[in-house]
Amino acid sequence: MIVLVGGEKGGTGKSTLATNLAVWLAYEFGSKDVLLLDADIQSTSKKWADRRGDGDPSLISVAVAQATGDVFKPARELATKYGQIVIDAGGRDSKELRTAMVAADVLLVPTRASQPDLETMDHVNELIALARGLNANLRAYAVVSMAPSNPMINEVGEAQAFLKDFPEFVLAGTFVRDRKVYRDAILEGKGVVEMNNSQAKAEIQLLGQEIYGTAE
Ligand SMILES: Nc1ncnc2c1ncn2[C@@H]1O[C@H](COP(=O)(O)OP(=O)(O)O)[C@@H](O)[C@H]1O
Ligand SMILES: [Mg+2]
Repeated sequence: MIVLVGGEKGGTGKSTLATNLAVWLAYEFGSKDVLLLDADIQSTSKKWADRRGDGDPSLISVAVAQATGDVFKPARELATKYGQIVIDAGGRDSKELRTAMVAADVLLVPTRASQPDLETMDHVNELIALARGLNANLRAYAVVSMAPSNPMINEVGEAQAFLKDFPEFVLAGTFVRDRKVYRDAILEGKGVVEMNNSQAKAEIQLLGQEIYGTAE
């Protein structure tokens, strides 16, 4: 399955979700079956993988490749070798994003619960409709990301209400909270399932199960 973590906006947690899902997948499906495809010229996922490679050698390995421009062909070719591909595709309405949307089985669009981020979802909705013209079976989810962990802030509830009515995507039931451990994990070349934070670990496991339909 090819899962694209993409969207128009930068800094919404795309690379964070992509790297965390790739690590979770390596444990679930085995390292040999998983590839993280970095299709963002900022190379956040590639740099994360380099830090992982230089770090603790006992960590499960996560293969990484890079592609830019039209990523349809590289993604589909890699999918003949790897059962599970996660694509990290940048934060603009880019060629990489559009072509990856045609190659993918699933699109995850992380969005923060704040208004400027939510406003970009109209255009994301349009892009998904366009991609479906070429890729009719694309499944698309919005994922509320970096949600405030203070329960007094009802931004999440407001975001959920806003996101539930778009025709082209559904809202993932699992959302990802703003936790320092996600920033630490990126710097250490790890996934939060390898870190000492049971809440973050549970979020990624639940999201993984929701997207991949696996159950523990
Ligand atoms: N759930 C989270 N909790 C805390 N910090 C996060 C979370 N998700 C992302 N970040 C941080 O926010 C910044 C942007 O995240 P990143 O995944 O690089 O976004 P994108 O790939 O969409 O540009 C990074 O510094 C990252 O560590
Ligand atoms: Mg990124």
